[in-house]
Amino acid sequence: MKEDNRPKFTTKFGVIAATVGSAVGLGNIWRFPYEAGMHGGGAFLLVNLLCVLLIGIPVVCAEFVLGRASRRNIFGAMDYLAPKGGKWWRIAGFLGVLSGTLILSFYAVVAGWTLEYLFQSLSGNLTAGGVRESHAEFNNFTAGWRCVFWTIVLLSINGVVVLRGVKKGIENVSNWLMPLLFVLLVMMTVNSLLLPGAMDGLRFLFIPDMAHVDSSTFLSALGQAFFSLSVGLGTLTVYGSYFPSDTKIVKSASIMAGLDTLVAIVAGMIIFPAVFAFGKEPAAGPQLVFEVLPDIFRQMTGGAIWSSVFFLLLLIASLTSTISLSETGVAFCIERWHLKRSKAVALTMGFVTFFGIFCALSFGPLAHVTFFGMTVFGLFDYVTSNIFLPLGGMMVSIFVGWIVDRVTVDKQLSPASKYVRKSIVFLLRYVCPLAILAVFINNLIG
Ligand code: PHE
Repeated sequence: MKEDNRPKFTTKFGVIAATVGSAVGLGNIWRFPYEAGMHGGGAFLLVNLLCVLLIGIPVVCAEFVLGRASRRNIFGAMDYLAPKGGKWWRIAGFLGVLSGTLILSFYAVVAGWTLEYLFQSLSGNLTAGGVRESHAEFNNFTAGWRCVFWTIVLLSINGVVVLRGVKKGIENVSNWLMPLLFVLLVMMTVNSLLLPGAMDGLRFLFIPDMAHVDSSTFLSALGQAFFSLSVGLGTLTVYGSYFPSDTKIVKSASIMAGLDTLVAIVAGMIIFPAVFAFGKEPAAGPQLVFEVLPDIFRQMTGGAIWSSVFFLLLLIASLTSTISLSETGVAFCIERWHLKRSKAVALTMGFVTFFGIFCALSFGPLAHVTFFGMTVFGLFDYVTSNIFLPLGGMMVSIFVGWIVDRVTVDKQLSPASKYVRKSIVFLLRYVCPLAILAVFINNLIG
């Protein structure tokens, strides 16, 4: 595709809103707090920050470079930028697109849960009737067909947005939703910090307990950084391919990673003070948001309002991320098979909805259908997070660090200073692949 007729984001704000929209999602507000809760709070945060800085940002830059230098999706980018005889690199690109659609299939299910919880909050049902069995309530809901319905609703919203295209769909929606997200975040944070006992929560989040740092902290922190920054599967390559030619890649990657990390920390500042103030368990795991928080909202003054604000926040965050995942598949279909956008959207969303339904049913009717002891949902989550994402991230860093010619990389990374460009290439060549390899092997054998 020629540079001229490639759709582009139109403003600097649009670039940041779309990329931050992709990065900020369930990974920050749902996953980060429970990972931190299970791995020693502040200690996890510290290791996570290091991973973002030394591994996350360079790989984000690499994906932006791939996208803008080629003006293609990751499959096309690897095909286009690989030297003669390096056509097999596009297999890595294909793996990226595939993992994007698989992630979307289970991610949409969790995002669908937030739709239900928002609906229940707004109608007052979630907080009505005092303390009750949140665990059973959550299990009942996820085991039924209602969550299939919400998954389909969520994917349909995605379909409508990506159908409208890069500027009118993705950029426009991100421009509206991201500022709203930040307003809701501030409201929730102020409310949490005013709770009696909030300090205990902050202490848990910010004071590192080094006794909790072991190899599993490092591995989870790196996995968290990757998932949260949306790297390793070509989503950011596609967004990079829509960057105007004067977008500063290193600066955008740093702003994006900075805001993404900030939102994760702020989510911790919302959740942990409330958890401690109401005497709950911070290491509750994935149920933290859907089981522990509703209990807390029930006891809070104005609980119905706060739970509505919280689940709206979670919905917005996950929606902008699913949009970026949808576009990963759509861009591939448009370029690879020369499809019209409408056909590409129908194909991608059809594929994802099909698998999404299986994932949604994994907690009920299909709970007994297992592969290697995992449900369809569990399998998709495991294969993408533990195998495809790290492998994809490693491929991207090796590809941009070693294979793409230095002049192209330097040109894309400028106007960053020579020192910064050299450091990024160094990290991409040595540090990122080795660190990811360590995670990969450990995940497989652990
Ligand atoms: N970064 C998103 C989140 O934190 C998830 C995501 C992963 C989105 C990969 C796009 C690609 O929720």
